[in-house]
Amino acid sequence: MALPTDLQSALDTALSRFPNQELARAVDRLSTRYREGRAATAPIMNSDSDVAAYAGYRMPATYAAVRAVLGEVAAFAPEFAPKSHVDVGGGTGTALWAAADTWPTLSELTVVEQVEKALNLGRALAASASSSALRSATWRRGVIDTKTPLPAADIVTLSYVLGELPEGMRARTVAWLAASASMVVLIEPGTPAGYQRIAEARAQLLELERSLVAPCPHSHTCPIPQDKDWCHFSARLPRVGAHRLIKDGTLNFEDEKFAYIAASTTPTAHAENRILRHPLKRKGLVSLQLCSAEGVLTEAKVTKRHGDLYRSARDATWGDAWPPAP
Ligand SMILES: C[S@@+](CC[C@H](N)C(=O)[O-])C[C@H]1O[C@@H](n2cnc3c(N)ncnc32)[C@H](O)[C@@H]1O
Repeated sequence: MALPTDLQSALDTALSRFPNQELARAVDRLSTRYREGRAATAPIMNSDSDVAAYAGYRMPATYAAVRAVLGEVAAFAPEFAPKSHVDVGGGTGTALWAAADTWPTLSELTVVEQVEKALNLGRALAASASSSALRSATWRRGVIDTKTPLPAADIVTLSYVLGELPEGMRARTVAWLAASASMVVLIEPGTPAGYQRIAEARAQLLELERSLVAPCPHSHTCPIPQDKDWCHFSARLPRVGAHRLIKDGTLNFEDEKFAYIAASTTPTAHAENRILRHPLKRKGLVSLQLCSAEGVLTEAKVTKRHGDLYRSARDATWGDAWPPAP
């Protein structure tokens, strides 16, 4: 799940203005702060080098996660052809790029973000996009204000933001987002705390009578034992260009873990089951840990005797719907 080439080259150009050491220092500070996982009382990104560092080390990873999530939304809501998208707490605009890549129907893209420097970099990156929707996106400075309605849109996204909000503001924010768009997509880090926030939002969206699009194959209570486990997924991305220079280590890829929920006002098909772990593949046997349509955790053992299904199981990966859509 690599960055689109136009974004990659715009990002490399933007980051080349900063000495590597300055970016590395900002990455250290930001990643320590994000690992703490506590709500922010003031914007975490402050300076131009913070914003550039965030874009360099987090845009590739959040892009991989958001693009994977939107791919699932598109797969289970094939009739959904959005024209407008609002991304709240959009930073440098990662989710806009992922949405534009998923739905060529999009023509009105808007980021709402509190940090002006992030908006400026996002706008500069989008200026050289091949998509005209990205080039003409609206970059709006603003804080989440649940008393003022968001501009209505077909889809609204909130990616890696809930955890920065004070706990008391999260449910209000989810209701505010849901009031503005028929499709709501929330993405959080794939940590126990990130999953917990998604699980709370999921319950709230069900109360608001939204239909879950992904990842859940059902609308029952989430069966994950919340004190022992957490529902999350993983997207692999290459480390290239400036991203590789900024990151410590020699690996040329990384795995971004994320938790998410997508819900719609329009009922859509569900996955029959969702694969919750890396499938265990042995000779002639694939074991799949599943969340099922009945809302229970279960294991499926698929053997050579299952013919085509076995071949599909060999190709199946963590996070896929099971069985795969025809
Ligand atoms: C971790 S970053 C995620 C950026 C982007 N959504 C992504 O996925 O790469 C969180 C963003 O949310 C923004 N943010 C946090 N609280 C906000 C608020 N109350 N109003 C507006 N933006 C907010 C921050 O400024 C930051 O850009």
